[in-house]
Amino acid sequence: MHWQATALISLITVLSVAGQIIPYQNIIRCRACNNAVTLDDCSTLTVCDNRTEMCYMEEIITASFTILYRGGCRARQHCNPSTQSIGRRNSLELTSCSECCSLNNDCNHRLCGIRSSLVNVSQCYHCDSSAAGSTQSDVMNPEDCVTLTTCDANEVCQAETHYRPGLSLTFRYGCQNINMCKLLMKRAFEHLQECDGREGTEGCQFQSTCYACCADGGCNYSDCSSLQKRLYQLYKNQLFSLDTLSTRSSG
Ligand SMILES: *[C@@H]1O[C@H](CO)[C@@H](O)[C@H](O)[C@H]1NC(C)=O
Ligand SMILES: *[C@@H]1O[C@H](CO)[C@@H](O)[C@H](O)[C@H]1NC(C)=O
Ligand SMILES: *[C@@H]1O[C@H](CO)[C@@H](O)[C@H](O)[C@H]1NC(C)=O
Repeated sequence: MHWQATALISLITVLSVAGQIIPYQNIIRCRACNNAVTLDDCSTLTVCDNRTEMCYMEEIITASFTILYRGGCRARQHCNPSTQSIGRRNSLELTSCSECCSLNNDCNHRLCGIRSSLVNVSQCYHCDSSAAGSTQSDVMNPEDCVTLTTCDANEVCQAETHYRPGLSLTFRYGCQNINMCKLLMKRAFEHLQECDGREGTEGCQFQSTCYACCADGGCNYSDCSSLQKRLYQLYKNQLFSLDTLSTRSSG
C-alpha cells in the first residue's frame, strides 16, 4: 500500500514538475532505484511516458566490489541493446546488467536479478511445455512467464533459450539439479571467456541453445544469454560462486 500512495504523490509531482501532461493511456509506472542494495530500497514508483520511455534496471559493480541497482525511466533509444555497454568499466564502475521493459507497470522490479527480502528462495519461475506439472508453457517473451514453482532442496533455478530456424525464440524456465547446473555454468563461463572481445567470430556466434542457472532469490528472471553475461561479470569480479551458484552478499 505504501508504495502505491508514494506512487500517487510522485505522479502528481512528475506531472507538475514536467509541466506536461502524459495522457493516461501512455503512462507507465517504473520502480525507482537509486544505488539500491535490494528491491526493498526501491519503494517508489515513478511515472514515465510509455511513448518515449521504458522502465530500466541496471546492476552496477562498484570500485569496492559491491553490487548496486539503479532503475527508473529511460529514453527508448537508450534501451537499444547496441547502445548499452555491459561489462565495460566506466569511471571505476562496471555495468553487469542493463535491461529495459515496458509491457507492464512495475515490470523492472524483475530485471537484473535484483533481490527482495520477500523472495522465497526455494521458488523459481516455471514455464516449461515439456514438464508435466507446468501450468504455463514456454514463452516468447521472458516478461510473460509469471508462474512460480517450489523446487527441491538439491535444485536451483534454470533459464533456457531455444532457437530453431524459421521459428521464433522460446524461453523456458524451471528447476534443475544443482550439480547439472554447476557443469552448465562452468561451461558457459569458459565459452564467454574464450569469446571475450571476439563476439560474432568463428565459434563465438549466436548460440541456438542457452542454459543458465542461479540459486539466489530474484536471480532467475531474464533471457538466458543476458543472465549468463550478467553472472559472468559478477563471477569475474569474485561476486558469483560456481560452487553455490549464488551471488556473494556484498553487505
Ligand atoms: C507500453 O507500450 C507498449 C507498446 O509500445 C505496450 O505493449 C505496453 O502494454 C505499454 N505498457 C503499459 C504499461 O501500458
Ligand atoms: C516457499 O513457498 C512455498 C510455496 O508457497 C512453500 O511451500 C515453502 O514452504 C516456502 N519456503 C520458504 C523457505 O519459505
Ligand atoms: C525468481 O524471481 C522472482 C521475481 O524476482 C521471485 O519472485 C522469485 O522468488 C525468484 N525465485 C528465485 C528462486 O530466485
